[in-house]
Amino acid sequence: MIYDIYIDDKEVTHGNLHLKRITEYLNFDGFSNFVETGTYKGGGVKWALNNNFTKVNSTELNEGLYNESSKLFEDNINIIIHNKDTVEFLTEITTTLKEKTVFFLDAHISGSDSSHNKNHPNPAIIECKILSEDFYDINECIIIIDDARIFDDNFKNDMKKQFDSKGLKCVYLDDTIIFCNEKYLK
Ligand SMILES: C[S@@+](CC[C@H](N)C(=O)[O-])C[C@H]1O[C@@H](n2cnc3c(N)ncnc32)[C@H](O)[C@@H]1O
Repeated sequence: MIYDIYIDDKEVTHGNLHLKRITEYLNFDGFSNFVETGTYKGGGVKWALNNNFTKVNSTELNEGLYNESSKLFEDNINIIIHNKDTVEFLTEITTTLKEKTVFFLDAHISGSDSSHNKNHPNPAIIECKILSEDFYDINECIIIIDDARIFDDNFKNDMKKQFDSKGLKCVYLDDTIIFCNEKYLK
């Protein structure tokens, strides 16, 4: 069994419904910092704004999509859209973090209007490895990995291993995999 907790609503499909029920199960009190990999058209950023996050950093590899999102959020000084590969972005941003952070890992190969890095088309394992290194108290972070269906069980187990020693719970919720301290579960 990969997951410690499994919550599945067959009615919920992938896409922007991914974060729909997450506030029913997770307690985001005290979290104001949202870090996303894979901006695409800004769906995750909009979710963060609608859920009271006041500091948002998101990175998008595709230059056209990056330009689109930068323009979309240019009036909000609390939102920074980056045009970097997720590995470079996460490595840099984790050195500056000093507060409770929600990480939304969603940078992976997808539709033809987007991009991916051929060296790591599905970088979730590398992203988890970066986050599991001691940059800040991982117990004060919530890590949400979108599109669980695209990862096989070996891949998921490898992700889980990164956080097992830190005591984080592994939760499946409507096609997302969540790693967090159980104090953040409702
Ligand atoms: C599934 S979409 C993201 C959807 C978005 N998070 C949302 O909630 O609406 C994946 C995005 O990740 C980007 N991407 C893929 N590989 C990447 C990488 N290595 N670094 C940064 N962005 C990447 C793609 O160009 C694409 O726009």
